[in-house]
Amino acid sequence: MARDRIAAALAAGLWTLPESGPIGLFRPRSDTDLSALPGDRLRAFVTWAPDAAGLAARGIAMAEPDAAGFAAAAVFATRARVETLGLIAAALARCRPGGAVLIDGRRGDGIDGLWRACRAALGGSDSVTLGHGRAFALDRPETLPDLVAQWATEAAPRRVAGGWLTRAGLFSADGPDPGSALLGDRLHAPLGARVADLAAGWGYLAARALAADPGIERLDLIEADANAVACARENVTDPRARFHWADATAWQGAGGYDSVLMNPPFHDGRAADPALGRAFIARAAQLLRPGGRLWLVANRQLPYEPALDAGFARHEILTAAHGFKVIRAEGPRAGPPRRGGRSRLDRPAAPARRRP
Ligand SMILES: C[S@@+](CC[C@H](N)C(=O)[O-])C[C@H]1O[C@@H](n2cnc3c(N)ncnc32)[C@H](O)[C@@H]1O
Repeated sequence: MARDRIAAALAAGLWTLPESGPIGLFRPRSDTDLSALPGDRLRAFVTWAPDAAGLAARGIAMAEPDAAGFAAAAVFATRARVETLGLIAAALARCRPGGAVLIDGRRGDGIDGLWRACRAALGGSDSVTLGHGRAFALDRPETLPDLVAQWATEAAPRRVAGGWLTRAGLFSADGPDPGSALLGDRLHAPLGARVADLAAGWGYLAARALAADPGIERLDLIEADANAVACARENVTDPRARFHWADATAWQGAGGYDSVLMNPPFHDGRAADPALGRAFIARAAQLLRPGGRLWLVANRQLPYEPALDAGFARHEILTAAHGFKVIRAEGPRAGPPRRGGRSRLDRPAAPARRRP
């Protein structure tokens, strides 16, 4: 549908592209249809690892992190308003004066409110509405208004209670998640020499594990969101930590871990999707050494027990409080491929979109 709105915005003259020059794309998804645009001029800013892989496979070039001077730009709204306003501020700042920035999004992701905010800050803009979404364009003024600088500031990484660095759009951006804190309280030595934190977010659980066990020699943090990884690098300065921007369900680490920690994602877009957590549990069983253990926290009502039964010989609830359950599972049963040549782990669920 984004394609139709892009095409309609171009056809209506709402968004004009100069004859030449690079076009910056801010947060296109792997499945965003960009066929209305000149592919060889596109440069994408992407933070979600599966999106980066999907766009690269389609031949879309990634932008250098500090690339600027774009002839035009397009922003694809995320579900987090502050984050999207930060992307709009970045797109405006990185466009040449006079260049036009298209903003495209779905009604359910708050595009109408963004349109109103942009009109108030930068003046009137017509829009096209199609397929439960809206697209509108802003001309980059010579001087950006103070409000746009404020959007950039509000979306930038910031310290929250406890000194943690987080930013808008990340899971538990205002401080540690109560479920993760519950699991953190249960972590104790010995976790083993090699530990993995699957879907590590901005690093809270990894930091708790490293503090709990001086015997850890190496802890791998695996996380799909590059912004979360960047924050984790600041929050977890212990030299035993290693950071990996990757889809955990397809993570090809060495395996053989003594412990895997996780507060797995439980949303795919808008809907709660236990299949995601189940894919993470299966991946943990595969990554652990035979005597290794999984440490998991989840919302109490999430039905992970069948996946734990399938992946592990034993599991027990260590704590249940405040709507969460902390589970420890032992005896991983990664097992050989089933008949037909594929193990259950060869078919991970589709990765979650940004939200946990
Ligand atoms: C519930 S949060 C937990 C974050 C962190 N461990 C904590 O306790 O605060 C889940 C995390 O999973 C990440 N995520 C979702 N799908 C992923 C995937 N396929 N691979 C890696 N990380 C993923 C999200 O970006 C989010 O940071």
